[in-house]
Formats: sequence, structure tokens, C-alpha cells
Amino acid sequence: MSLVPKHIKNLSPYKPGRTINSVKRKYNLDRIIKLASNENPLGPSLKSIDAASNSLKNSHRYPDASGLELREKLANQFNVRVDNVILGSGSEGIMSSIMRTFLRENDELISAENSFIGFRVLANASGKKVIWIPKKDYRYDLKSIVNQINKNTKIIYIANPDNPTGTYVNKDEFDFFMSKVPERVLVILDEAYFEYAENIKDYPDSMLYRYDNVITLRTFSKVHGLAGFRVGYGFAHHKLINNLMKVKLPFEPSLVSQKAAIASLDDVKHLNKTIKLNNQEMNLMVSNLNAMKIDFIPSAGNFITIVFDSRDNVINLVQYLLENGIIVRDLVGFGLPDCIRVTIGTKEENELFINKVKEYLNS
Ligand SMILES: Cc1ncc(COP(=O)(O)O)c(C=O)c1O
Repeated sequence: MSLVPKHIKNLSPYKPGRTINSVKRKYNLDRIIKLASNENPLGPSLKSIDAASNSLKNSHRYPDASGLELREKLANQFNVRVDNVILGSGSEGIMSSIMRTFLRENDELISAENSFIGFRVLANASGKKVIWIPKKDYRYDLKSIVNQINKNTKIIYIANPDNPTGTYVNKDEFDFFMSKVPERVLVILDEAYFEYAENIKDYPDSMLYRYDNVITLRTFSKVHGLAGFRVGYGFAHHKLINNLMKVKLPFEPSLVSQKAAIASLDDVKHLNKTIKLNNQEMNLMVSNLNAMKIDFIPSAGNFITIVFDSRDNVINLVQYLLENGIIVRDLVGFGLPDCIRVTIGTKEENELFINKVKEYLNS
């Protein structure tokens, strides 16, 4: 179709993980355990559900166009000014605005292979040249990324911690990287999982740095358990935010979503409970995998990537788990065909997962 630009024709649509309903129907099951999309297994805070419900009666009204109340709350919490904060429909919504705001004719992007698929989709859809740098031992190779910077480089994307590997760029690596990146290059630092990583000693929480060319992206989809509401937020120099504001869709995220997010920030108990559960269950998962002699990548997030010796093993295990009502993520679409990613669930969910893996290995 001549209406469609070539770079769009050549794209494949984003393939999300399987949904609970589709697996229920296909395998005729009553109960499904979804460990596929790094969601909060405890669900949202009850306070955010109440706040969202209470705001439904105002749904005939547009929300504040820039989401001022939530932006103020985030500015207070993270010690920045409100004009350093932007909201979007998930952090991917903000990524999309970044592409539309900053990319010009001959600009290029750099990121790593096998990193967050959402960025890959948006970068390819931009029609610009993207240089994908292979990872080293499943980690971002920042030296090679820096070596690829040229006069056309405009955006470098780093997910920290990374999804799907769960690895993170440490403070020394981040300092080295920032010392080499010219100020004319915009760094997107995607910290969707930062709450799970912030207590790691050498994890560089980007909010403790002040670079004029860094945009930090965070989300309510993970630790806050609000993925269905689609609320992401970003921090950057006010001049970057100011220009993003000209391009972003006004009124996103929705009124109901903003209210849910505001209430969630106040429910520190729920957030702490989520992080504590993840720490405990991650440790158990790791010891179970070790006991089964299954290879995995140590993770700083709320998920773990398991490495098998063949693609066949992945296909067979994913199928076996599906038939038993457990959805995990086959990482073939991320360029890791020998790997699956498993979200850390509740104690019961993780035990069921481990038992089914044992059963599969013994079958
Ligand atoms: C690294 C990373 N960034 C961003 C996102 C998307 O977050 P949101 O739901 O806020 O768009 C995800 C979700 O899986 C992710 O893993």
C-alpha cells in the first residue's frame, strides 16, 4: 500500500505476553497464574482503588491538561520542581513523546540488543537509524555504546535495571558513561524497576545526579501495581520538559488514573510490602533454581530470566506450563530464544511454578 512508509511496512506489531483469558479459554482452565509481565502480584493499593472509584463520578470532566496535582506530588517526593516533571500514558507514552519531540531528519539512536522491547518498537517506528550494541554477559556494554557515538547520535536509551535480563548499570559504569556522552545527546534512563533496585549499594539512582541531557523515566505499572491504568512519569531539565509538553497528548493519563496514582504514592505500606515480598521470594526462587541446577541471570528487578541450553527446552517448558495454567514469557521476541522470563509472584504462585518446572524436568 503506497500510503504506508517503508519503515512502517517493515515493522512487526508489538507482541504482548498471553492474557489470562486467552489461556483460560484455550486450555479450558479455571485458574491461571500470570508470571509474564512483571506486574505486582499483590495488585494495586486498596487506597488507589478507592481513589479511582471515587473519581468516576467526575468522569464527564477533563482532567487538568498537564496532570498538575500528580506532578506536584511527584515533585515533592523526589525533590524537584514541578516543571521538571512530565506524565504520560505509561512510561512508554513518554518515550513516544520523546521521539516525536527531539528527533530530526538525520538523527540516530543507540541502544543495546535484547533490551526492553517497547523501546525497540518505538525506535524502529521512528524511521531513524538505530545502532543496536550487543550486550556483554547480558549487561549493557557502555564502552561500546560510547564508541558508537557519532555526529548524528541524538538519543541513547538505557534501561536500568534492564528488562528482560534484570542486570543493572552500576555507579562506576554510569559515571564513566556520562563523562563520555556529549551534552547534545539525550540519554533516556528508563528506571521502571528502580524501587526494586534502589537499595543495591552500587545502583546509580539517577535522581541523585543532575544532568541536563538525561530524562529519567519511571512508572506506576510495576511496584505500584497500576499497569492497567497506564501512568508513567519522567524527570528532566525544565527546558526538555517544557518542549515535551508541547508535543505530548494533553489530558493523558486519564483523570481516574491520575487519582489512582496519587493515592498509591501515599500508600507506603503497600509499596514496602510489595518490595519485601519480592526480596523474600526472589531469594527463594534463586535457591530453588540453584537446587535444580538451572541457569539464570541474577536480577535487580521483580523478575528473573532463566537460561536453558536449547530453544526446544524453552518451547516445551513454556507449553507445559501453559497447559498447567502458568504463563511465563518466552524471550524469543527479545532475541533471547533460549531464555524465559518469570515474574516473581506470591509465595503460592512461585511454589506452583517451581513444582511444575520440577515435574517437567522429571518427565
Ligand atoms: C524497562 C521497562 N520500561 C518501561 C516499561 C513500560 O512501562 P509502562 O507500563 O509505564 O509503559 C516496562 C514494562 O514492562 C519495562 O520493563
